[in-house]
Amino acid sequence: MLLLVLLLFCTRSLPVRSSSDQFVYNGFTGANLAVDDSSFVTSDGLLVLTNGTNRLKGHATYPSLLHFRNKSPNSSIHVLSSFSTTFVFAILSEYTDLSGYGIALFIAAAKNFSTTLSYEYMGLFNIESNGNASNHIFAVELDTIRNVNMGDIDSNHVGIDINGLKSVKAASAGYYDDKGNGVFRNLTMISGEVMQVWVDYDAKRAELNVTLAPAQVPKPKKPLLSHQVDLSTVITEWAYVGFSSSLGDMSSRHCILGWSFALNGSATPLSYTKLPKLPKARPSSHMVLSVVLPLAIVMFILTVVGAVFFLVRRRIKYAELQESWEDEFRPHRFSYKVLFHATNGFSDDKLLGAGGFGRVYKGTLPAHKLEIAVKKVSHDSRQGIKEFIAEITSIGRLEHKNLVRLLGYCRRKHELLLVYEYLSNGSLDKHLHNHEMDRTLVWDTRFHIIKGVSLGLSYLHDNCEKVVIHRDIKASNVLLDAEMNGRLGDFGLARLYDHGTDPLTTHVVGTIGYLAPELARTSKSTPLTDVFSFGMFLLEVACGRRPVLLDDTQDSHVCWLVDWVLEHWGKGDLIGSMDKRLGGNYDIDQASLVLKVGLLCSRPSPCSRPVMRQVVQYLEGSMPLPDMSPTSPNFGTLALLQSDGFEAYDMPFSVSSKTSCILESDCLSGGR
Ligand SMILES: Nc1ncnc2c1ncn2[C@@H]1O[C@H](COP(=O)(O)OP(=O)(O)OP(=O)(O)O)[C@@H](O)[C@H]1O
Ligand SMILES: *[C@@H]1O[C@H](CO)[C@@H](O)[C@H](O)[C@H]1NC(C)=O
Ligand SMILES: *[C@@H]1O[C@H](CO)[C@@H](O)[C@H](O)[C@H]1NC(C)=O
Ligand SMILES: *[C@@H]1O[C@H](CO)[C@@H](O)[C@H](O)[C@H]1NC(C)=O
Ligand SMILES: *[C@@H]1O[C@H](CO)[C@@H](O)[C@H](O)[C@H]1NC(C)=O
Ligand SMILES: *[C@@H]1O[C@H](CO)[C@@H](O)[C@H](O)[C@H]1NC(C)=O
Ligand SMILES: *[C@@H]1O[C@H](CO)[C@@H](O)[C@H](O)[C@H]1NC(C)=O
Ligand SMILES: *[C@@H]1O[C@H](CO)[C@@H](O)[C@H](O)[C@H]1NC(C)=O
Ligand SMILES: [Mg+2]
Repeated sequence: MLLLVLLLFCTRSLPVRSSSDQFVYNGFTGANLAVDDSSFVTSDGLLVLTNGTNRLKGHATYPSLLHFRNKSPNSSIHVLSSFSTTFVFAILSEYTDLSGYGIALFIAAAKNFSTTLSYEYMGLFNIESNGNASNHIFAVELDTIRNVNMGDIDSNHVGIDINGLKSVKAASAGYYDDKGNGVFRNLTMISGEVMQVWVDYDAKRAELNVTLAPAQVPKPKKPLLSHQVDLSTVITEWAYVGFSSSLGDMSSRHCILGWSFALNGSATPLSYTKLPKLPKARPSSHMVLSVVLPLAIVMFILTVVGAVFFLVRRRIKYAELQESWEDEFRPHRFSYKVLFHATNGFSDDKLLGAGGFGRVYKGTLPAHKLEIAVKKVSHDSRQGIKEFIAEITSIGRLEHKNLVRLLGYCRRKHELLLVYEYLSNGSLDKHLHNHEMDRTLVWDTRFHIIKGVSLGLSYLHDNCEKVVIHRDIKASNVLLDAEMNGRLGDFGLARLYDHGTDPLTTHVVGTIGYLAPELARTSKSTPLTDVFSFGMFLLEVACGRRPVLLDDTQDSHVCWLVDWVLEHWGKGDLIGSMDKRLGGNYDIDQASLVLKVGLLCSRPSPCSRPVMRQVVQYLEGSMPLPDMSPTSPNFGTLALLQSDGFEAYDMPFSVSSKTSCILESDCLSGGR
């Protein structure tokens, strides 16, 4: 009993020494290999050294020590025996081009590899022990990673290692094909193909041969590696043989299918028919399912999402609003995208100016190299838009040299875009009230502009079958082309914003003074309200003053230009109200004509105003002005307003309109 315990104790603590000098395993079932870490033998008998990922290391060792060195008959020297071994392996990798690190066949003095490192040390060494002659480790490595630290030649090589992983000799994996007259053929060790390795050492000649070949191919005559090396200082008298393997970050399985070893003779050949089957070599299908497919799906989804996002963004960015009633105006329609690109995306450096309705941008239509001005009008209510578009497009069809041509429009949600031809000299008010540049317009130009604008407005009122009311005549809506012709722009826009109902909008403030008094009461624009505005415009151009001025010298009292001119006239000095900047350089008759027509047009009572056809005739001199005097009751002074200031804006008009007995509509029919 004691003996048995002692025996058990001995077998457990002392290394078992083999009496045999050879073994052969066609599959490892029952081989009783000492495995550690991640190594194991499957039920089929397949030795899996490393299985998985993340820097695993695994070892499988023949359980007993082998007697590598025997006492020489005539001396006490232990002479190293020759040995021969062969094994069949396969590396099953997740990817066809990445794996690692590899497998090593080793002969080592000890089998405790707990202090060794995985990956580049192949589970055989660590940073300190690598290369130390006291290791007493000989190995043949099948290295699938090119590790510069170890002087590796490539990522697919076979090397002879002595006490360290810097191979004393290495060669790219391959074999000399006996069938092909010894031509060298490359092998890829991580291909998942089954391959066989032979390691033969002739102790007498100190010659080591390492041979590699694909499965079933007989051992090639010419070894892959043949190296003169004396292993007698490396291999200890008693030593272990086994396999070591390590993984990098790639998931792969290092498998050994069979192994044969012999001291003092050639290893028994392995029998392929008896070798265990490899687990379904799924790499390709596995990869398709687990890597390529999800990747493809993700890519597909990303592409679709990206495309949808792009399209939706594009849709939103360039979204327009179009309704069925617009079909007839389609020829006048611009796409938002075209306008967006024409104006550099409505960039600030393309901004020409901003008015009460919105901002105006300069643009260029690349197709025609045509310069345009795009007015962005914010417009929320659908009310009136149909009539407005019908009107402006009909005006757009009218070609008159004193009208700014409307090229078309575009509609978006909350936004209306009007495309006009670009007029290089900008709006008249900038020239008129530009004190900084001091480049006042000379009288001839002013008179030319006045006559042009009167023709344009008269054309709107009288030309076609339909009366067109401008609604917003003022100096800033008179644009000047390259030849300084005055051209009326912005016709009809005011229709969208009913002045009468909401007289103190920002827009109206800019327009104050131009609005005929009866508008405050009736909210109805007529050709005669246009005439009133035109009269104000005439006075503004002649006097170089805005129709309404806050006079700082008189306690911020509102000063009406009409009254100011009338005042001068009353003093017998009508010409004295002319723009001082002209320096008297004007035709006195023309000047007084313009001032008088201006006063005539801006009479409070609509009935007493002339129609535009008459105005044109007065200005052309083809019809004499009616007799007028500054005290004529028809001029109905606006001076009343001065005492009440701004708040009473609409008051005097109601007062003065009491005097007008005839309705505006009657005036209209009577006047024409
Ligand atoms: N067709 C155009 N060509 C060149 N410049 C233009 C054109 N249309 C407008 N502008 C410029 O853009 C500025 C702003 O015009 P906008 O019509 O918006 O304002 P406004 O005339 O002052 O006021 P309102 O909104 O009452 O018309 C103008 O003062 C003018 O300088
Ligand atoms: C080894 O890998 C196989 C297949 O990937 C798996 O089924 C098995 O559980 C793994 N074994 C270990 C010990 O990781
Ligand atoms: C005895 O050993 C020596 C070397 O140590 C060797 O040269 C000699 O041949 C050996 N003799 C016999 C009989 O083996
Ligand atoms: C291996 O060696 C380490 C120390 O180097 C020791 O702690 C461990 O117990 C040994 N393992 C075996 C199985 O002998
Ligand atoms: C080699 O290892 C031995 C024992 O582990 C140690 O004493 C020696 O210093 C090492 N030599 C070198 C060069 O590291
Ligand atoms: C074999 O491999 C070597 C080095 O990897 C390469 O230069 C050579 O072109 C390969 N030959 C064939 C036939 O693939
Ligand atoms: C090594 O290979 C060569 C042929 O290239 C052969 O002559 C020699 O005997 C081989 N040596 C061993 C130990 O197998
Ligand atoms: C191997 O052969 C040598 C002589 O060549 C002999 O000394 C030795 O005992 C043999 N070893 C075994 C294990 O047979
Ligand atoms: Mg304008």
